[in-house]
Amino acid sequence: MSYKIALYPGDGVGPEVVTEAHKVLEALPVAFDFTLFDWNSGLYASTGRCAPEDYLDRLMPFDAILLGALGDAAKAPDHIAVEPLLAMRKGFDQYVNIRPAVLYEGVDCPLKNVKAGEIDMVVIRENTEGEYTSLGGRHYVGTPNEAAMQVNYFTRMGTERIMRYAFETARKRERRHLTSITKSNALKYSMVFWDAVLADVAVDYPDVTVSPMLVDAAAMNFVRSPRMFDVVVGSNLFGDILTDIAAVIVGGMGFAGSANINPTRKFPSMFEPVHGSAPDIAGRGKANPIAAVLSTAMMCDFLGELDCAERVRAAVRMHLTEGKVRTPDRGGSDSTSAVGDDIVKKLQG
Ligand code: NAD
Ligand code: IPM
Ligand code: MN
Repeated sequence: MSYKIALYPGDGVGPEVVTEAHKVLEALPVAFDFTLFDWNSGLYASTGRCAPEDYLDRLMPFDAILLGALGDAAKAPDHIAVEPLLAMRKGFDQYVNIRPAVLYEGVDCPLKNVKAGEIDMVVIRENTEGEYTSLGGRHYVGTPNEAAMQVNYFTRMGTERIMRYAFETARKRERRHLTSITKSNALKYSMVFWDAVLADVAVDYPDVTVSPMLVDAAAMNFVRSPRMFDVVVGSNLFGDILTDIAAVIVGGMGFAGSANINPTRKFPSMFEPVHGSAPDIAGRGKANPIAAVLSTAMMCDFLGELDCAERVRAAVRMHLTEGKVRTPDRGGSDSTSAVGDDIVKKLQG
């Protein structure tokens, strides 16, 4: 049997980092059957879209999708370029977005006096509703009465299932602590509801300690006291914002992998770095591919290839500790592909 994997490199540094992640997967003792989809913002000028109309149908038969990044402002409006990403999350009901942030040995932390291993958290982000629903509209466009409305929509089913996933994640970890990100002092419907669902679900997990935390305070605490976090659960937008902070405190955007999971396995799950297309460095071999490589480890975890997942993480650890091959974000002058090659070398022992 082989796993059917869709490679969707996308825009900017996406193809550069997916090439390296692909190399790493090819070096594992597992049969993968790869199909490349070269959909990106370049399609916009001729088609008015950044992927063919039937892209979800075409991705449906795969076990997993490895995405690079979407977005190229020179070629397509950003909200159209990233539409396939959001459509995969919603259309494939990938309701859990897992975003770990681990400070590895050999990586410079921008925070004072924080050592390797002292940041080890995972953000569980709700990935299908909340602030990212398509409800709303623009009215009276071009008139003095112009208005825009974007509705936040939280369902009990959607909120409860992400809370349960976060509690289950916390239960499996040593510290068994969950921080729930809220803003119930100001958002008196959505976030008061979020807190209420948290309290309801918490009853089933007496072995997990819970603290609600306001999102503004959480942004501060990610920087001031990152050691306090174990598992963090947040709504779609809060989770998005906090995971850029989480990435940067463990070395930068080049270190943060992620998984967009449909736990029922009715639909394919999708794996991608947290970072975007990084237009400021794209096309020059400067991108750090570690975020994409760590996303392949998460893919292996999801496929049940736990040994391979551990091997990839061990190779990344070895590569980082040794520190000989470094992209510019780590103060080096090595290329994206040199980093990929070095990780593959470590993998092959
Ligand atoms: P970004 O994540 O692309 O870049 C932010 C900063 O991090 C930049 O300075 C960039 O050079 C750096 N960076 C990112 N990835 C890196 C890597 N692998 N190695 C080294 N440095 C890296 O965010 P942005 O600039 O706000 O967005 C650029 C485009 O990407 C936009 O079109 C945005 O909509 C899109 N975007 C897409 C995704 C996605 O596809 N998942 C995620 C975020 C942003
Ligand atoms: C992310 C990105 C996306 C998001 C964008 C590209 C729509 O920032 O995956 O973190 O907001 O979810
Ligand atoms: Mn983001």
